[in-house]
Formats: sequence, C-alpha cells, structure tokens
Amino acid sequence: MKKALIFKISFILLIILVLGTAFFVFENKNPALPNDNSSERCEQKDLPYLDSNLSTQDRVNDLMGRMTDWEKIGQMILIEKNSIHDINDITRYNLGALLSGGGAGPKQDTPLAWLQMINNFQSAAQKTCLKIPLLYGIDAIHGAGNVIGATIFPHFIGLGATRDPDLVRRVAEATAEEIAATGIYWNYAPNLDVAKDIRWGKTYETFGSDTENVAQLGLAYLEGTQNSSNGYLKVLANPKHFIGGGSMEYGTSRNKYFKIEEGNINIDEETLRQVHLVPFKEAVDGGARAIMVGTATWRGKMNSSNHYLLTDVLKKELGFSGFIVSDWYGVYEVAPSKYESLVLAINAGVDMVMSPFEYKDFMSNMQKALFRGDITKERIDDAVRRILTVKFETGLFDRPQAEPEGLSVIGSDEHRDLAREAVRKSQVLLKNTNSALPLSVSLDKIIVAGAAANNLGRQAGGWTTEWQGIDGNYGISGTTILEAIKNAVSKNTEVQFNEKGNFSVGNNLADVGIVVVGEKPYAEGWGDNPNPKLSPEDLSAIEKTKAKSKKIIVVIISGRPLDISSYSENWDGIVASWLPGSEGEGITDVLFGLYPFTGTLPVSWNISSN
Ligand code: GLC
Repeated sequence: MKKALIFKISFILLIILVLGTAFFVFENKNPALPNDNSSERCEQKDLPYLDSNLSTQDRVNDLMGRMTDWEKIGQMILIEKNSIHDINDITRYNLGALLSGGGAGPKQDTPLAWLQMINNFQSAAQKTCLKIPLLYGIDAIHGAGNVIGATIFPHFIGLGATRDPDLVRRVAEATAEEIAATGIYWNYAPNLDVAKDIRWGKTYETFGSDTENVAQLGLAYLEGTQNSSNGYLKVLANPKHFIGGGSMEYGTSRNKYFKIEEGNINIDEETLRQVHLVPFKEAVDGGARAIMVGTATWRGKMNSSNHYLLTDVLKKELGFSGFIVSDWYGVYEVAPSKYESLVLAINAGVDMVMSPFEYKDFMSNMQKALFRGDITKERIDDAVRRILTVKFETGLFDRPQAEPEGLSVIGSDEHRDLAREAVRKSQVLLKNTNSALPLSVSLDKIIVAGAAANNLGRQAGGWTTEWQGIDGNYGISGTTILEAIKNAVSKNTEVQFNEKGNFSVGNNLADVGIVVVGEKPYAEGWGDNPNPKLSPEDLSAIEKTKAKSKKIIVVIISGRPLDISSYSENWDGIVASWLPGSEGEGITDVLFGLYPFTGTLPVSWNISSN
C-alpha cells in the first residue's frame, strides 16, 4: 500500500517536472528564423522586383516570394536613427525604416551633412541580401525645420488661418522638394488633428478646430507632398494622428509631465466620426498611403491596439490600403510586456512599429510570436505587402540616391517668397481702433520692443533645429520682424529697438510703438498649459512702449490664442501672427499695407473681457 502511494506521488511529480520544463522551454524558446544569406540567393541578377517596367503588384509579389520571415519582420520596424549605434545592424537585422526624431540630425545640420547621413544609411541597406531600400522619415511639419538654411514656413495653425488650399498645396510641394533634396522621402505630415482645446501643446501643429478646414487643407497638403509628374510619389505624406487627436481631455495624460498629450478621448463614436474621421476619409480618398496612429486612448483603450478603429474602420470601411505606422513609444504602452503589446497592436492593424529605441527585442519578440502563432504569417505578410507596395510607389527602388547638386533648392528665393506669401495670408487682425493699421512707411519715428521682435527662434516655434525649438537666432536663416520693419520703412524713418521697452524719447512721442510678444518655443506635451497668456515681461514691454508712443500695435507670436482680455482694451492694434517662421517680411507686408489682412481665426479667440 505504502509503496503504491510513493509510486503515485513520484509519477505525478515526474509529470509536473516534464510539463514544467516543456513550458519553460516553449515560453523562452527563441526560434531563430532562418535567414539565408547564401550567395546563390543573394547574388542573383535581373531580379523582376528590380525591374521598373513591371507593375508594382508584380514586383511586390516577386519580392515577397524571395523574402525569409526574418527579412519580412525587419520591414515592420521603424527605428530612431540615434538608436543605431552600429550602422551594420541595418544590414544584420534587415531594418526597413529609420526616422529622425525632432532635432535628430547629423553633427553638423548642413544640407550636405544630412544628405551624406541618409546616403550612408541607404548604403547599409544595400548590403542586405535583397537590397530593399530604407524608408527614412522626418517631421518636416513647417519646412525642413532640422536643416540649417531651410525655408521655415508658418506652422499649420497659421496656414489654417489662410483657409487657402492652393497656398497650402504649394507650401507642401516646396517642403517636399527641400527634404527630398537631402534624400528623405517621408514626411510625418499633414497633421489632421482637430484642436478642440487650445491648452494642448500640439495646437499649433493643427490647422485649427474646424473639421472642414482641417479636411480641406489636409488634403491639399497631402496632394502637394505626394503628387509628381513622374508616376512616383514625390514624397510620402503621412496623415496623423489617427484618431481623435485634439479631443483628449485636460488632465488625463498618462505622462506625469503632460496634461493633454497622451491623454484620453471620451467623446462618443458619433462625435468621433463627425469631428475627426472626416479629414482622414478625405485623405484616404485623396491618396494617403501611410497613416500614423496616435498615442491617445479612446474611452480608455489605446488607439494603437484598437482593432475596430484600425482594421474595421480605417482599413475596411475607409478602404485604406497603405500601411499604418504607430507613434513613438505608443505600441509598448499597450500592455505590461513588450511581447504582449506587439501582439495586440499588430493584430489590431498596426503594420509598422515606431519602436523607436530598440530593434533586437522587437526582432526576437516577433519571431517568438510568429513561432507560437500569436501573430499569424498571414498578418505579417499583409503588413509587409502594404509596406513594400508603398516603398515601390515612392520610387525608392528606382530613384538614385540624392546628389549634392540638388541641395540648392533648400532655402531658395522662390521658396522664401512663397513662405512670405503664406505668412502675410496667415496674419489675423484682431483689433484696429481708429484705423491704427496699416502704418505709413514714411513715419518719422517707430519704437520696437518685445522678446519676439528680433528672435527667429520664437518666430519659428517648436520643431526647428531642435525638437523643442530654440530661443534665439542661431541655426535658422531668415528675417526677423525687426529687420523686416527696418526694410519696410523709408530711409528717413527712425527705428529704435529695445527689447524691454526702455526708450528715451524726450518730449516728442514716437509715432507708433510696435511690440512683438508671445510664447517661447515648445513642442507637444511640454506645451500643455492650463492658461496660455503673456508673460509679465511682455506686459511690461507693452506698457513702457505705450507710454512713449502715440499709438501701440501689439503683434502676438504664439502657437494658439493667449488670454489678453484683461489688457487689450488700451491697445490700438492687435495682430495674431501665430508662428510665422523664417520670413518676417510677411508680417510687415500687412502691417504697412502692402497687402490687406485676409487671415481669419482657425480657432476661436476672445480678446475682450466683456
Ligand atoms: C512624436 C509625435 C508625432 C511625430 C513622431 C515622430 O511623438 O507625436 O507627431 O511624427 O513622434 O517624431
């Protein structure tokens, strides 16, 4: 009896041991997918997928048929270029896409250095067996903002004030030309968010709070970016952030430093569709081939793991056949483990994961998921097919690497003239008592003050040279508002500048005081602000300048409306300049009446207290 009991217990323990070992091995088995780099496979000639005379579909089919699962998985990751510490990893891991996050450029931000950096990355990709070129992306959301010498256009909030699709299309074309000159063919724009809460730091990245205006200008920007005469996409546009950006509730951010960015959207589906789906439908119908899903949650669920939104609505209902790319670290916030996050996000419909910091974990987790069947081969093939189709459409396989000769388009006079046109059409006249504006160019004396009067960094705002922008005049070439004023007036007009408004004018007051004030540069959640308003220094400069001039004009450089209702009563003229970028003369064009004010508010702005 006793022996039988011991045997039974031993048998049970043995079974537990065997099962436990099997589970441990299965759980941690890292199935290294076959990656055949044999010469007979990698040195074939006359490969159909490299034949530009074949249809895109035939080329994709041929290439897919040659790829190992390892190579396919490499196409599904997007890495921030500063995470690549050994450029040979691009070859080793068959990485398919890189990006420059805000400010992530070469050591020298010159156009040539950018071109050389991109070409070096592409050369590493050309050393892979199948030589699939990299897709390289950047946020050129108001021109090639990272590149020294580039034309810096008004941020989208200013373009929203123009309500001019043709102008926005031309701005997009010029921006695409300047980034393509450096070898970059993927722009994370247009932003199709609808800004419903101006306390959000990303307000200036949007065309404003009017869905129809966002949809119209977003489509124009998409077309201007992509359309070309040679049959390829000039540059791949990337509407973002699907879906609901701009409706996150204040105070719901997952990030302890932010208030709205990475927050929760609580509106019902009908409102989500009416306010936020329309611009994306226009973009899909208008040829969008890449769409970025945002890092917000909708009713508590991460958008990047929402199968209904990504697959049922975007891919099936809207018929989007391009690829969905995730935003920054958004996928890895879906679930407690990276493995589970990847499985949920990719099965929900994400095709390319902006990792953005690591790729080895990604590759091993994806292998594990494929081995276990948590992500099916069909899902991976669907994602890779979408990505490769767009790579062929963008001409990456066929166009040679960018050449230095093309760099002359960057910051060209033609583009700067266009930017100046965009600036002047974006200016909104908020107040004009007793026809204070326009000013005469032949006044005797003008005094100019304000922290943004002689500061290209403030004119440009975030995403310029650095992610958060710069507060000064380094790294950007352009015309400050002070310089523009001096250029606009007659040679007999005296122009005095003092940033803080400390002027000595004796008994004769200046004819007019122009004070240029507003926000310091910021980007994204770092700009979330419970009460955007002028600083005490700004208000002091205005008061001091007002005391020394017959009339006072306040020019506001900001990414959104600022609370001026308690002070604006005694200001004669007020102009909303938004974030105009490098061409300050677009502001003086309307201040001095060379052109009329035509801009209208893209978001509501109540400037008076009554
Ligand atoms: C950021 C932004 C997104 C941008 C991306 C790449 O976090 O949310 O708009 O395109 O990362 O820089």
